[in-house]
Amino acid sequence: MFKVAFSLPSIPTKNAAVITVAAGQKLGEEGLKLDRKLGGVLKRAMASSSFTGADKQTLVIVTPAKSRLTRLVLIGIGDPSKVDALKYQQIGGYAYAALSGKDVQAVLIIDHYKALALSAEEAAANAGFGARLRSYRFDKYRTKLKPDQKPSLKSLVVMTAKNIKAKEIYDRLDKIADGVFFTRDLVSEPANIIYPETLAEQCITLKSLGVQVDVLDEKQLKKLGMGALLGVAQGSVRPARLVVMSWQGDPKETSKRPVVFVGKGVTFDTGGISIKPAPGMEDMKWDMAGAGAVIGALKAIAGRKAKAHVIGVVGLVENMPSGSAQRPGDIVTTMSGQTVEVLNTDAEGRLVLADALWYAQEKFNPRFIVDLATLTGAIVVSLGHEYAGLFSNDDALATQLTNAGKNVDELLWRMPMSDAYDKQIDSPAADMKNIGGREGGSITAAQFLKRFIKKNTLWAHLDIAGMAWQAKDKAVCPKGATAFGVRLLDQFVATSCEKEDEQG
Ligand code: BES
Ligand code: ZN
Ligand code: ZN
Repeated sequence: MFKVAFSLPSIPTKNAAVITVAAGQKLGEEGLKLDRKLGGVLKRAMASSSFTGADKQTLVIVTPAKSRLTRLVLIGIGDPSKVDALKYQQIGGYAYAALSGKDVQAVLIIDHYKALALSAEEAAANAGFGARLRSYRFDKYRTKLKPDQKPSLKSLVVMTAKNIKAKEIYDRLDKIADGVFFTRDLVSEPANIIYPETLAEQCITLKSLGVQVDVLDEKQLKKLGMGALLGVAQGSVRPARLVVMSWQGDPKETSKRPVVFVGKGVTFDTGGISIKPAPGMEDMKWDMAGAGAVIGALKAIAGRKAKAHVIGVVGLVENMPSGSAQRPGDIVTTMSGQTVEVLNTDAEGRLVLADALWYAQEKFNPRFIVDLATLTGAIVVSLGHEYAGLFSNDDALATQLTNAGKNVDELLWRMPMSDAYDKQIDSPAADMKNIGGREGGSITAAQFLKRFIKKNTLWAHLDIAGMAWQAKDKAVCPKGATAFGVRLLDQFVATSCEKEDEQG
């Protein structure tokens, strides 16, 4: 386990050290001290390199013979008057990546600059958070890793003048990282390990944080009339589950309408009878990333004891072809009473969400409902891997979510919704069909979901198909499962639910 700690600045004399440098090769107070102590090696190294102190740059310096430092890394922050919390998270991430060779212990000196745009304690806490986020690994099935293939770094001490305050800020961020790691684990697990029943068991572990968890089995789902969700599950030997996780952290009003997050939890999506092509099908183990984000967000929110009433609902199914699988052309009746002609069994996420969304509204009368789903390949065509698609029936909610996303670097781009698209999903045989053709594929999927949203419900849908998994390392997220949505939902709760609650 990798640990982050905080201390007052002191000149490092052993192990590895990373120190921040501002644009123009400007050393701060601590950097100047260290440079003096080491006989000017920092300035000399910078002078003979292309390292300018611009952000994202690093420079590894060979340490002088008389020093017991194993390694010294300079890391650029750019213009100190322009840095924000996100920038320091990235700095922490880059610092971790620059170190994780042979070093077991290291210090990260967050140097002081007069022009620094945020407080020293905020900067240090966020750097620690970024380092921890970057330290994530999913190695549990790699039994033959040699010691030098495993991460060596066990502890990073972040040095800052206001170390106690930094630790306080970090402790809250650390709970969010716990939620992110939980989601990354769930999404990384293969589908023979994580399927509806075992994913439900993982939800149950949140009870230890004070989350109330109820698992509904197929008998109960049938009684509720969830014909669409059950239709998707019927081809698999793994029975479906719907899990409700409730965090009641609002001390004032227990009856206050909750905010509800709903997640698509298709633990494996073969496409069903409308089967997907073989290449890349293994990616569909992460077709539960929407549910994964909701589960991790609840872990973060409960972990940091958010003063809000938050409910997570996840619909868990496996989409398989078999003798009992649903067929193209089948007509299913949803919990809402509306019927759906299933023309393509691979458009299954919307069927699962249709029943989960309806259930959430009937049962909880939510103040807001936000669903997350790896719903369409079409959103990846539209937005690539930089933004998730945001669809909403409410401008204010859309703005709040967009801002929450900007705050945590989980970006959303609002997509249009209009009844004009509805004709694409009208069916001659039932109330609607589950596909709307190639054109505007992510929009017709959202229009489909909207048919299961009640008139006065404030709703948003996040299509995260392009964001749940990444092929390359990023500053605060190694390649693989990203846990996109966890930090965003946590931030949304902090700014749109807790703050409002405070005002009464
Ligand atoms: N899970 C997929 C969407 C997906 C695709 C997620 C790529 C992540 C990466 C979804 O269930 C699906 O198969 N959607 C179809 C819908 C189509 C049949 C209308 C799609 O996008 O092709
Ligand atoms: Zn599918
Ligand atoms: Zn799917």
